[in-house]
Amino acid sequence: MKVCNSIKEFKDFRLSRYQKENSLGFVPTMGALHAGHLSLVQKALSENDHVAVSIFVNPIQFNKTSDLTAYPRTLKSDLRMLEEVMGLDDVVFTPENGEMYPEPIQTQYDFGELANVMEGEHRPGHFNGVGIVVNRLFRIVEPDSAYFGEKDFQQVAIIRRLIEIESLAVKIVPCPILREPGGLALSSRNLRLTRTDRKNASNIFKILQNTRKKISSGQDINSLSVEIRESLNKLPDFAVEYVTFADENKLQPILQLNNLAIEKSNIRCFIAVTVGNVRLIDNLSMY
Ligand code: PAF
Repeated sequence: MKVCNSIKEFKDFRLSRYQKENSLGFVPTMGALHAGHLSLVQKALSENDHVAVSIFVNPIQFNKTSDLTAYPRTLKSDLRMLEEVMGLDDVVFTPENGEMYPEPIQTQYDFGELANVMEGEHRPGHFNGVGIVVNRLFRIVEPDSAYFGEKDFQQVAIIRRLIEIESLAVKIVPCPILREPGGLALSSRNLRLTRTDRKNASNIFKILQNTRKKISSGQDINSLSVEIRESLNKLPDFAVEYVTFADENKLQPILQLNNLAIEKSNIRCFIAVTVGNVRLIDNLSMY
């Protein structure tokens, strides 16, 4: 496995090692790798001739400096984990800020209604920062396919839109959420939870599963949202940011199930909650 710190080194490696007809799968990450990331890498390895992984904590997608500062950085162990699964001709790209952003950044994407809800509404500028870095990474790495976890379900939709805006020829492959045995969605941020908070946080998934049962037995979305908020806010140090039911394509909030022109099977429930000072998100299809 080759590790490249600079764009030039990466491009030289790509040119010298990969044939035109070889497919390249790409897994962009911000490091602090866990089994969820590794499942993306494994999928990319199984579907491509070569795989590239990037590790770059992208400062411009953090809307709070405290969140950026607290983001776990574990490069040595990340590389060790990747070394176990990646082959000789696979590559890890680990650029510094100056390499990715040599000049002031001007781009302002218009992701439309996709970016006005949930993460877009609660983290102003976040998706613009994601769009800018993913566009840059795609142009440097030039992958055929790119792999993203569905924990960031809205991010996947934004990246599909980015592909259209930038006319990029990259296939986006969404991958299912991996969970701890108790149900907590795997996330780099889980490293920052205390043992008690981590245990309590497994309630997020339990509540999502119960919600799915209650929806299928006819309970209305408004009362369900209130119930979810109440049960989560009762847990010590938990503060719900949003509970949103939305259709999976446009991600627009659904307030009532009756008179809907969308298929019920497209509904997903999205939750964002802070536990102490750690922000967690999760989602589950309701059918
Ligand atoms: O999902 C992430 O880890 C990041 O948002 C991404 C896609 C690597 C861009 O920085």
